[in-house]
Amino acid sequence: MAALGEELLTTVNRLQDLVFNTIGNDSLDLPQIVVVGSQSSGKSSVLENIVGRDFLPRGAGIVTRRPLVLQLINVPSDDNIEPHTPAAVGGSGEWAEFHHIPGRQYYDFTEVRKEIENETARIAGNNKGINRQPINLKIYSSHVLSLTLVDLPGLTKVPIGDQPTDIEKQTRSLILEYIAKPNSIILAVSPANVDLVNSEALKLSRQVDAQGRRTIGVLTKLDLMDHGTNALDILSGRVYPLKLGFIGVVNRSQQDIMTNRSLQDALAAEQEFFRHHPAYRNMAHRCGTQFLAKSLNTTLMGHIRERLPDIKARLNTLMGQTQQELASYGDMHFSGKEHRGSLILQLMTKFAGSFISSIDGTSS
Ligand code: GDP
Ligand code: NA
Ligand code: MG
Repeated sequence: MAALGEELLTTVNRLQDLVFNTIGNDSLDLPQIVVVGSQSSGKSSVLENIVGRDFLPRGAGIVTRRPLVLQLINVPSDDNIEPHTPAAVGGSGEWAEFHHIPGRQYYDFTEVRKEIENETARIAGNNKGINRQPINLKIYSSHVLSLTLVDLPGLTKVPIGDQPTDIEKQTRSLILEYIAKPNSIILAVSPANVDLVNSEALKLSRQVDAQGRRTIGVLTKLDLMDHGTNALDILSGRVYPLKLGFIGVVNRSQQDIMTNRSLQDALAAEQEFFRHHPAYRNMAHRCGTQFLAKSLNTTLMGHIRERLPDIKARLNTLMGQTQQELASYGDMHFSGKEHRGSLILQLMTKFAGSFISSIDGTSS
């Protein structure tokens, strides 16, 4: 589960540890990544690819019917895990927990998918209704960045099944609630086989991010475009302006889902698609799931750089305070408090300066 890049993972997790152990909270304030788009545009598929793990219900028709708030939580790798912790007991360093089932750890991600389906049906019914009550899922792994991802129901124009007549309005307000947060990165998913003018994802993101600063355009289903047509104009930014641009992807098809095609296999096929396609082969390095993950990395690092001055200032204040506190102990013999204070100070001086300036290339 390392689609977001090992290097970013290590850097951010070290920084997160540092900040948490000193300032005492998660001041990195990493953005949440919210996936929006119309029904069956490929939202859940894109999210799964980013996480690098099979666990989301996907498929034709209305599958995602409640918000899924997915919290990825970085934990130390197996070697560092205490013998009594769940990961050690289960023999695997990756597990999932649902907020609505306290105390149960899932090691089989097929079971995670089943539970999402059951819990969706429990609150949103067995028909096509949606419900705004989120499902909260945590995934613990040594291979993830501590980060929140949100999968949302897609927009539908025409009510079907259990859906009330104002289903479109309800879904729209639900989506807006999540993407309005200034700290959300919006993955606006549009299928390439539908005219971009009709993209619900872009209409929605424009409402909360008019400048297109925190929206990444994701163009899915490039493999399903009419023969002889392509999306070069969109992908090169000539059709719709977004600072972070448009990235084309090819996710697993319904056929792939039914035959249980592996994520790895599908990612390799996606790369082949772009490398050999007459329209895309010259820009293949800027297409596909891997490039999307890389762009997310860049965006997250940019966000962290913005947060660094504030974090540094707070660390400095804290260091000054700790120094003063230590000085006030004078010649007293070692107390627990003093010991802890000096440890914190050591930790801070050891890591803070060099480490923070190593990621913060610009200022010192
Ligand atoms: P969501 O409703 O937006 O979450 O969409 P899903 O991820 O559930 O995908 C809807 C359907 O479209 C599924 O059958 C997917 O297999 C299919 N699909 C998604 N992306 C692509 C793609 O890039 N190419 C093809 N051929 N099918 C896709
Ligand atoms: Na779907
Ligand atoms: Mg979905």
